[in-house]
Amino acid sequence: MCFALWTVVTPIIILLVSLVVVQWTNYVDVESYYKDKRIILTGASEGIGKDLAIRLSQLGARLVIAARTESKLKDTQNLCQKYSQDVFVVRADVGKEEDNKLLVSEAVKHLGGIDILILNAAYSPPLTMFTDYEDPGETFLGVYKVNLLQGVYLTKFSIDHLRESHGTILAVSSMTGWVGLPMIAPYTASKHALHGYFSSLNMEFQLRQENILVVIMPLPFVHTNRAV
Ligand SMILES: NC(=O)c1ccc[n+]([C@@H]2O[C@H](COP(=O)([O-])OP(=O)(O)OC[C@H]3O[C@@H](n4cnc5c(N)ncnc54)[C@H](OP(=O)(O)O)[C@@H]3O)[C@@H](O)[C@H]2O)c1
Repeated sequence: MCFALWTVVTPIIILLVSLVVVQWTNYVDVESYYKDKRIILTGASEGIGKDLAIRLSQLGARLVIAARTESKLKDTQNLCQKYSQDVFVVRADVGKEEDNKLLVSEAVKHLGGIDILILNAAYSPPLTMFTDYEDPGETFLGVYKVNLLQGVYLTKFSIDHLRESHGTILAVSSMTGWVGLPMIAPYTASKHALHGYFSSLNMEFQLRQENILVVIMPLPFVHTNRAV
């Protein structure tokens, strides 16, 4: 009886101790980690991106923030500048290759390089059943351009800078990158594609021993205007 108990308890203890060790050795002090990090953050005119920009400024990061609506970006910039002056606005439609190119060159001009690329901008059309779309191809293409190609273009244009800084690409995703949900098929498909793209990219970085970290961050529901 006693022996049987130990065969159950011992693996649990080993697991718990391992978890503590892994947590401890991978410990990052968030308060100091972001200090002076040079970050491109897309979709910072509202929602999660706006809050993220403010928090990163509080932590001392140097930011280039992007979105299409310049007036809202300037609001974000003003809020960030309570904490740090190093916040620059670039108006960019991340679905367009040339805008992503401009975004990277402006970031390098203002920040002198790139440490972290945060791909947060996203678009989802109004809730619609797939069979009710008149032109689903056009709709899917529009969503893919913003949610997926943003990552493809920004990786392409910033890769040399990320190599130099041993940087990080952080793709903001969603639970819908793993499971489908009704009425948001284009968005769901784009987030699945995002996971596929960045998982492959991550393996290629490892195969080539590139010192670039890829993080896919699947968020649960967050109470923003778009989500509501
Ligand atoms: N909220 C949630 O419940 C939830 C859950 C899971 C994952 N997420 C993910 O979290 C991220 C942020 O979501 P959110 O709820 O904060 O969204 P949001 O409030 O709608 O904000 C979206 C941001 O993306 C920008 N954007 C949209 N299309 C763009 C384009 N073509 N070019 C440049 N910027 C563009 C918007 O700015 P402009 O319109 O000014 O361009 C805005 O700043 C997204 O990646 C989303 O998939 C959100």
